[in-house]
Amino acid sequence: MPNSYKRVDAHLSNLGYCSRGEAKNFLKMFRVCVDGVRIFEVTKKFYHNDITVDDEPLDAESLVILMNKPSGVICSHNDAGVLIYSLLPIRWQRRNPKISTIGRLDADTTGAILLTDDGALNHKLTSPKSDVAKVYEATLAQPLKGDEADIFASGELLLNGEKKPLLPAKMEVLNPTLVRLKICEGRYHQVKRMFAAVGNRVIALHRVSFGDFSAEELMPSEYKVINLTKNIK
Ligand code: URA
Repeated sequence: MPNSYKRVDAHLSNLGYCSRGEAKNFLKMFRVCVDGVRIFEVTKKFYHNDITVDDEPLDAESLVILMNKPSGVICSHNDAGVLIYSLLPIRWQRRNPKISTIGRLDADTTGAILLTDDGALNHKLTSPKSDVAKVYEATLAQPLKGDEADIFASGELLLNGEKKPLLPAKMEVLNPTLVRLKICEGRYHQVKRMFAAVGNRVIALHRVSFGDFSAEELMPSEYKVINLTKNIK
């Protein structure tokens, strides 16, 4: 776990407690203490772990969050509409570096999504080399024809406009218009395009899990901080 040594105003502004300019006032309004002794000097340097605000430890320096994404929110920092970040506490929304989603789900897709302010982790888990398994439940407009599982498992399916075939994916039939699909890559609109490639259409999409993390015990919009000490699979 990081435990950085820097100015109090940098700690407070990086973690979203206040802006750098507001730090002086923040120290007057809240009991910011180091080893139990109240401080008023914004320029002094301390270790993150030694600082408390009104007797509470500072928020963690690095956050990984698991959310059950509801339909209608957007995984972007700058598109029009309701952004997924608006579901997080205001303080987390003001962190620097920013909290970002690890990959994206479409606005109408629901389910498990991770968010973090750890850029290296985000990069690692979204790089084309990452093989984190993602499991989706897709509701289809038309009943299955019967050859979809074989086509998806073949490792030969080409999505419209692409030259590289998809890696093999595993499809399980839950009923004629509902499937569970496990994929290990994350191409743009991948699941919807896979079903378009076999002449069908996804009318609802839910991500059951991302690696080991499932959001099934969370209500839509609910989230929790998770510990990513082990390698995500
Ligand atoms: N595939 C899609 O088509 N949409 C998503 O949101 C995720 C995977």
